[in-house]
Amino acid sequence: MSIEIRNVSKQFGDFQALRDVSLDIASGELIALLGPSGCGKTTLLRIIAGLETPDVGSIHFSGEDTTDVHVRERGVGFVFQHYALFRHMTVFDNVAFGLRMKPRGERPSEAKIKEKVMSLLKLVQLDWIADRYPSQLSGGQRQRIALARALAVEPKVLLLDEPFGALDAKVRKELRRWLRRLHDELHVTSIFVTHDQEEALEVADRVVVINQGRIEQQGTPQQVWDNPASPFVYGFLGDVNLFKGRASDGRIHLDDGMQLDSPEAGHADGTRAFAYVRPHDLDVERYSPGQALDAHGRPSGIVAQLSRAIVVGPIARLELIPEGNTQSADNADSDALIEAQIPAQQFHDMGLREGETLVVTPRRAKVFLDQAAGI
Ligand SMILES: Nc1ncnc2c1ncn2[C@@H]1O[C@H](COP(=O)(O)OP(=O)(O)OP(=O)(O)O)[C@@H](O)[C@H]1O
Ligand SMILES: [Mg+2]
Repeated sequence: MSIEIRNVSKQFGDFQALRDVSLDIASGELIALLGPSGCGKTTLLRIIAGLETPDVGSIHFSGEDTTDVHVRERGVGFVFQHYALFRHMTVFDNVAFGLRMKPRGERPSEAKIKEKVMSLLKLVQLDWIADRYPSQLSGGQRQRIALARALAVEPKVLLLDEPFGALDAKVRKELRRWLRRLHDELHVTSIFVTHDQEEALEVADRVVVINQGRIEQQGTPQQVWDNPASPFVYGFLGDVNLFKGRASDGRIHLDDGMQLDSPEAGHADGTRAFAYVRPHDLDVERYSPGQALDAHGRPSGIVAQLSRAIVVGPIARLELIPEGNTQSADNADSDALIEAQIPAQQFHDMGLREGETLVVTPRRAKVFLDQAAGI
């Protein structure tokens, strides 16, 4: 079943939680709603489920307006942010619940229910704990049971509100792969809410980035990663350094003297420019006086002090304080800190030490002009 969200707005008191949200979701698609806490993700899911009504706009299922369709008739399965299994029921009875609650005419026989529940428990790989109670399960197992319970009534739409939010990183990673496989088997149109960009990029067919109640961008994981529509999206998808400057002569003149080539700067003389650079797109060299100049005598990089180096595994994460921002590391303006990542091997080969002065040069920058305020 496809879902069409048409111009949905929602206000709580005088707080605007959703602003003119429109989105088409194809039948069988797995969509990730991605955005910071409070941006409106849960509100949008609740509106789709029919647990909340929009002030303006409408939700259509396969072209049909759902405004007058009751929650129970929408055919929506919901897995909530915090697991909500019935504590006094066994795993089996939890999963069977929706089937047993069906009106008599539609209710399957107990034998059919048993067959169905056991096949769902097999699907989530937990058929061996059918007789346990929720308190005897791990968090990850509970979430899988919650998912099996949602699937039992064969929903046409599956809404997952941060289903793995409460779990540790390793279990989350396993479950998100498992969810992707499950979706590929069942093809239920699914909306998956998360505020973890890695999770969204790994699991979803399409990512919808929401900020302050508005859709900032939607596209495949690759599209939003390669062509972020705004500084917000760029910053939200990964760690980033911001350098401010001005466009002139087809280049960006950063406030600290360095210049960057930039196709975006071509027709925008004098415009305020914001250059965003990912930590792994920064080259790092040891500083020696006079050396950090390009052929025209201009600084070729940013001179900065290495204040902290965290070397764990294959990557060295460096925190640098730009020269001119001369306070000690403890009270340096954290916005001014530069974060760089280099291979740990390079870090050791160079013999870098905390406290040394280095030159940092962006290999690649994403430039937003003028209208784009800082993150
Ligand atoms: N019933 C309500 N009454 C008043 N304000 C509400 C209500 N429900 C949500 N809000 C507000 O609307 C905004 C969006 O809430 P929502 O729960 O949709 O955010 P979210 O994106 O799911 O955040 P999180 O990632 O923290 O779960 C928040 O600022 C929240 O305080
Ligand atoms: Mg939420």
